[in-house]
Amino acid sequence: MDDRNRLWIDGCFDFTHYGHAGAILQARRLIPKGTKEGALLCGVHNDAEIHFNKGGRPVMTECERYEHTRSNKWCTEMIEDAPYVTQPDVLDAHHCRYVVHGDDITTDANGNDCYQQMKDMGRFLVVKRTEGVSTTDIIHRILTNTKTTESLKVGRREIEALNKFATGPDGHSPWCYVFEGKIASGAAIVHGAFELSPQDMVYIEGDFDLFHIGHIEQLAKLRQANGPGTRLVVGIKTTAGCLMTPLERVLSVLSCRHVDAIVIEPTVKPDVRQSWKLDDPALKNGKFAYLDTSVIVNRILAERAHY
Ligand code: CTP
Repeated sequence: MDDRNRLWIDGCFDFTHYGHAGAILQARRLIPKGTKEGALLCGVHNDAEIHFNKGGRPVMTECERYEHTRSNKWCTEMIEDAPYVTQPDVLDAHHCRYVVHGDDITTDANGNDCYQQMKDMGRFLVVKRTEGVSTTDIIHRILTNTKTTESLKVGRREIEALNKFATGPDGHSPWCYVFEGKIASGAAIVHGAFELSPQDMVYIEGDFDLFHIGHIEQLAKLRQANGPGTRLVVGIKTTAGCLMTPLERVLSVLSCRHVDAIVIEPTVKPDVRQSWKLDDPALKNGKFAYLDTSVIVNRILAERAHY
């Protein structure tokens, strides 16, 4: 086994927003296309480790963060209880030579760089941090109730971002389709792209604001219930009044392994076997069904002093 093509990335992954997904994707792309034994292991810190090193508690529980990270399509394997200060022997045990991290410095409880030892050993790789999103920023939006008025403008920058996030599990090959509902008029173009009959497609529509494991669980349920050959098409409304912008919501949903196509601002529902609304009681009955925006907001308000 070539440990150079088994990479490790670790973090709190609180909210597991598209900035985290961007780091996971960039890490995955460091493994050359077609490398058979290539793998990206995502280590997630538990609540106690975060509390000890950062002081505050993450908004999302370790169980929620574990499952959300596991659902990321570029993550080959999710490792629970990853140490806050990255340890070479933990990477050795998983046959990974390198740890990957964004170009920001993370410090432990003593103010020391969590990656110093790995850097000194030449086992540290850096990727570019995504600007404009962070857990702190999302908490700030929630505390100040800053809702977006932005509609999705699909310019060159946005198309580039969407295409990067539309790759498959290897981070290179095209996988997912993104259509603009207004121009795609739903069904025909989605069917054409997959060359599948409507019977092989299932559709779900919603805002997907603060994309969380409660949403992902519903996507997974649709995927599993309809068999491996079925494609899942997600319609995302560009509704104003969400905490995340339409582009942010699309990028988050695109990082999810259960999603095959996204229609932005759907105007016509694709002609499919089944069509669902997000949070339909028949879908929202899993382990994380308790999770919604108000639960997250209340957690933040209750812990306000820490943020
Ligand atoms: N990361 C990134 N872009 C962001 C936020 C995080 O590339 N906007 C990267 C970090 O550099 C790290 C990984 O995502 O490699 C996991 O970060 P994590 O430890 O969860 O959190 P922070 O770096 O503290 O970021 P945030 O405040 O958003 O949680």
